[in-house]
Amino acid sequence: MKAIAVRPGQPHSVHQREIAKPSLDKYPDGNGVLVKVLKVGVDATDREINDALYGNSPPGDDYLVLGHECFGIVEEVGPKVTRVKKGDYVTATVRRPGGSIYDKIGTYDMTSEETYYERGINLLHGFLTEYFVESDDYIVKVPQGLKHLHVLMEPMSCAAKAVHQAYEAQRRMKVWSPKRAFVLGSGQIGLLSTLVLKLRGLEVYTLARAPGPHLKSEIVAGMEATYVSTSETPLMDLVKKVGKADLIIDATGSSKIAFEAMQALGHNGVLVWTSITGGKNETSVPSDKVNIEWVLGNKLLVGSVNANREHFEAGIKDLALGEMMYPNVLKRILTNPVAGLDNYKEMMRLLVEDNSALKVYVDVASE
Ligand code: BGC
Ligand code: ZN
Repeated sequence: MKAIAVRPGQPHSVHQREIAKPSLDKYPDGNGVLVKVLKVGVDATDREINDALYGNSPPGDDYLVLGHECFGIVEEVGPKVTRVKKGDYVTATVRRPGGSIYDKIGTYDMTSEETYYERGINLLHGFLTEYFVESDDYIVKVPQGLKHLHVLMEPMSCAAKAVHQAYEAQRRMKVWSPKRAFVLGSGQIGLLSTLVLKLRGLEVYTLARAPGPHLKSEIVAGMEATYVSTSETPLMDLVKKVGKADLIIDATGSSKIAFEAMQALGHNGVLVWTSITGGKNETSVPSDKVNIEWVLGNKLLVGSVNANREHFEAGIKDLALGEMMYPNVLKRILTNPVAGLDNYKEMMRLLVEDNSALKVYVDVASE
């Protein structure tokens, strides 16, 4: 069967290759699920892997099958599988457990080991192919009514985790009740974080460079949040207008902005960093100023990566609620379908060159 892969370490090596179709034999314990891939989303991580800034092949292979945002339909299940049945729509979590205590309790997204295993990213092949098999521990059912949002499940899980982590960490405050949030970046994680925060009742400002109106500003407005163009109103001007934020999610992909955000956080607040920045950029920060503000304000910085089953399930519920609250808004994120695996060059071109491509995904097969 066809697969789209790279040779990690070798820039611009994306290519199509033949790999063996997997079968349930891989799971003699009876827990295997064979999934026919329908759609796969790609994001900046895939671009960085193709730029050889990130990612590794599975041991013994000199290639890595890409794709970590999958949507498919169950074709066959082993006798012990209870979570899903043939014909169900599903997605799969990305990370697989290592050996730490966190991995052992299902929170593999919090592994304390340096080595992490992620399908399509690090040490495990991904989903940009025709079929995959997986233990049902990592298969998450997607409701029929959300099938039109297909590849958003994985990015949504990351947004759900980021916000959940913020609230978990803020239990330190005993009575934390955030009012105002800033979301930095209006890519998929920024927009989906905007949704999660709106559903938690916050006043949300979503910031990105380009002045509106445009698709992203319309999606933000469609969720009753406020879009702010930082070329018109820089972050610190927004702070002067509306005050500092209780919660900030950075999803810009810029480490410079991640540090700048430290100055926009209010007392007792929490800043969550979610960007994968595979480059080598450096920036200078007013460190004395930030240091004293953070100490005197009891502020907290949290890094958040990946997501486990719990976040996928919570994210899927939020997508369902989001559809009720803001009908027909979320599907607007899904801007750029690519027809079939054969068109993988077009997929990469959109990722690399087309700034207006909010979400690129491959239509791998129809049911
Ligand atoms: C993926 C996450 C992953 C992270 C780091 C992101 O693009 O969506 O699942 O943990 O990259 O590899
Ligand atoms: Zn991703």
